[in-house]
Amino acid sequence: MALTINIAGEELQTADKQVGIRKQLQLSLAEKNVLIREIHHRVKNNMQVITSLLALQANKVKDKHVHEEFQYIQFRINSMAMVHEMLYAAGDLAYIDYEKYLNQLVTTLVVSMKGSDGNITSHVDAKSIKLNIDTAIPLGLLINELITNSLKHAFPDGRKGRVSVVIKSCPDHYELKVSDNGIGFPEDFDSQNSTSLGLGLVDTLTIQLEGTLIRENTKGVSYMLTFKQLEANAL
Ligand SMILES: Nc1ncnc2c1ncn2[C@@H]1O[C@H](COP(=O)(O)OP(=O)(O)OP(=O)(O)O)[C@@H](O)[C@H]1O
Ligand SMILES: [Mg+2]
Repeated sequence: MALTINIAGEELQTADKQVGIRKQLQLSLAEKNVLIREIHHRVKNNMQVITSLLALQANKVKDKHVHEEFQYIQFRINSMAMVHEMLYAAGDLAYIDYEKYLNQLVTTLVVSMKGSDGNITSHVDAKSIKLNIDTAIPLGLLINELITNSLKHAFPDGRKGRVSVVIKSCPDHYELKVSDNGIGFPEDFDSQNSTSLGLGLVDTLTIQLEGTLIRENTKGVSYMLTFKQLEANAL
């Protein structure tokens, strides 16, 4: 009889210990999430400081072309800062809602580069696409580059048009299509011998994403990127 009571008592103690350990684990998990959220917040704030410094520096520059170059650097940094912002603002710390991200990215670029008179419209479709930070950042930079190009080169002299970004989820990969209905590449354009930064960056980012990129020059410019979600680096 005494033995049974003793065993029951030990079982109770073990159960108590397990509840204690579980509570501790839940607490440290909650602390870890707060810290990760805080880091994303700080990274985003620091990136915002960098873009503000660049804007101040740009204001000192008289040359219009150099001034624009400063603006493009700010767009590139902003495309990364927005990923960190969405990670700390949303409930999910590991994945971002890419359609929400793209809507914000494309709208910001259109308004900053073309104003809000509605001459250039945009279309974004990336329903249910959730990407981790290791994929979201290089992909965001690549899309930033292609949309910036469309807004910079495809619609000269107040020409009206549309830019579009669509991501489709296929069984073992994703397909991204970025397109515009502008004037298309110049006839004599030679991408191999181009010394500009933008398309070179796009090639580098495609390699980083382990993807394949096809460019088409029909009714404007369009790009098709096939990529997979990169394995997330454990925190
Ligand atoms: N969507 C587009 N429509 C028409 N022409 C384009 C388009 N995208 C690129 N181009 C042409 O390709 C060239 C190279 O583009 P790239 O992005 O490499 O350089 P850039 O935009 O001129 O400068 P940056 O280095 O700042 O990106 C452009 O100068 C332009 O002539
Ligand atoms: Mg460019």
